[in-house]
Parts: sequence; structure tokens; C-alpha cells
Amino acid sequence: MRSADIRRKFVAYFVERGHREVPSSSLVPADDPTLLFTNSGMVQFKRTFLGQERRDYVRAVTVQKCVRAGGKHNDLEQVGLTRRHHTFFEMLGNFSFGDYFKRDAIAFAWEFVTGPAWLGIPPERLRVTVHHTDDEARRLWREVAGLPDDRIYGLGDKDNFWQMGDTGPCGPCSEIYVDLEWRPGMAPPALAQDEFERLAEEGRFLEIWNLVFMQFDRSADGTLAPLPKPSVDTGAGLERIAAVLQGEDDNFHADTFRPLLDRVGTLVGRPYDRAAPERVSYRVLADHARAVAFLLADGVYPSNEGRGYVLRRILRRAVRHAWLLGRREPTLAPLTEVVVAEMGDAYPELRARAGFIRDVT
Ligand code: GLY
Repeated sequence: MRSADIRRKFVAYFVERGHREVPSSSLVPADDPTLLFTNSGMVQFKRTFLGQERRDYVRAVTVQKCVRAGGKHNDLEQVGLTRRHHTFFEMLGNFSFGDYFKRDAIAFAWEFVTGPAWLGIPPERLRVTVHHTDDEARRLWREVAGLPDDRIYGLGDKDNFWQMGDTGPCGPCSEIYVDLEWRPGMAPPALAQDEFERLAEEGRFLEIWNLVFMQFDRSADGTLAPLPKPSVDTGAGLERIAAVLQGEDDNFHADTFRPLLDRVGTLVGRPYDRAAPERVSYRVLADHARAVAFLLADGVYPSNEGRGYVLRRILRRAVRHAWLLGRREPTLAPLTEVVVAEMGDAYPELRARAGFIRDVT
């Protein structure tokens, strides 16, 4: 399934279930000095979760532009070296503002992930984690999804408690994992919790969706105050889901990055080779072209501080990797053109600012 179809199906599924389709907000969070960039779908709803703002809907669905470079969720130096780290990525999310809570969040996620009309991932490929104190979520995964208890693992705060930043809305979470080595007909292997955690660390089990049961507001001194109403915030990485559905074990080999890797190959005169050490530079360029195009489209400009400084570091890292590949000509500009061509339908701001993006890169 192509990434454009995954986006479309995700929104359609949740709109059919009473969610308002809300456009992605800017990568620059509005009026939020606590955050460098929008790092997840819930950022634009922060004040709604806190009860400081009312909306005329209580359920929402988004496909959100995110950047995790600089600030709390900072992946920049990992990018290119791993199969999953990105500076820019798209997060699919459904949200409940004091409306449904754990039971429906789990039921929706399970139906969307496994339903033949939706993602159609076989249930035998899936396992979940819950916060180790959250017996209710554990019970609901058994009841609603029919998951056996030995495929539900209880993890601690490091893995299963989500917060947007050092302060703000947060809560225990539950994550869905896919077994990348599962083949049709295979019975799910019995795995004790430590084995599952080791295999997740090694990449066999891939987290594709995080359901956050938003219950608290963390203040600067670390105290947790209850939110006015328990709510739901979910986040599913489009790039990961696309890779799984396209039979790839590496996000960079899915259609979200492949045209960019191919373009780097054309520019350099050597096609991308997944076994070659120089693949890292192809991947850095593919990733950074997306971040640069989207940040410029949202009005971030390279500079010596704050957001502009992070953009400058991304630009410099891209230029260094183009240099390592032997390029002495502008390289990011033609790559950002691929980003605009591939993603301009979903994000019209890319087309609107295409000339500016080309000029800066
Ligand atoms: N806000 C949920 C997540 O980013 O996983």
C-alpha cells in the first residue's frame, strides 16, 4: 500500500467514526515557547487537553508534520545511520478531548490496523505494551482485541509514559508492535518479556502506534496534576507503516524516501546501494531534503539561534554528506524539487513556496 493511500485511509476511517479532519499545524508551534518544533500530533491540541481552549468538536484526526531535531526529542545525529530515525516525519493521529477513552482508543486502533478494508495486518504479527501499572489497558487488549495475555507486556515509564516536553499534557501509553520476521502461517512465538524487549531493541519488533491515555499536566517542578477530563492522543509514524506494508524492514526503502534516494543516485552518478558504506550519505540527503523543504515552507530561515540554528545544522550536515559523495554542485535544491513533486498534493504549502525553497537551498 502506498503512503498516499495510508494517509487517505487513516483519515477516512476516523472521519467515518465521528472525528473532525483537522489540517496539520505548522512545524513552528503557535505561541508555545516550551517547544522548538512541532514534535507530534497533539501539539496543536495542547490547550484543548489542558481545558484552556474549547473546540466545537471532541474527536479529531490529523496527519501532522513533525520535526525531531533540537529540543527534547532530538534525533539529528542518528539520521542516516539507522533504519528509522528521521528529522522530518509524518504522524497519523486520532484524538479524543474528554470524549472516548481507553476502550474505544484500543478498539479503533485494532480495527484500523488489522481490518482487511484498512491496513489488514494479520493479528498474529502483533503484540502490545502497556504501562506496567495499567491493568485496565491490559484487560481491554484481551477483551476488545482478543490478544492473549502473553503478547501483552508491561513496561515502565521510560517506554510507556508519554510527554510532549518537560511540561504539559502527558499520561501512560500503550504501543502496538509488528513482528518483521513473521511469515504467513507462522504461529506467534512465545516470548518472555525480556526476550521481547531484546528483539524490539534489535529491530525485529517495530513499534507502529502509540496510544497515549492523557491524564495529567506536568508542571516545571515535576508534579502531575490531573487533566480536567481523561483524553486520548495517538501517534503512528507514516514512514514505518509504509515500510511494513511495502514489505521493507527499513523506512528509507519505502516510497516515502525511495524517489529521493534514486535522485541522489542520478546526481552522484551511482545508484543507491543498500550494502555500500556510502549509503549513509544518500540517506542523510534524502532525510534532510524533506526537513529543509518543510521547515522553509513553514517560514523557518537559517540563522544563528533557535529554530533557524537547527535548520542551519541540518543544511550543513546535508552539504557535508553531498561533499562526501563527491558532489561539488548544489545538491539539496534538486532534492527539494523531488520533495515538492512527491508531497505537494498532501501539503500545498510546498508548491506555494517552491521557488523560495529552491532559492535558499
Ligand atoms: N503523542 C504520541 C506520540 O508522539 O507517540
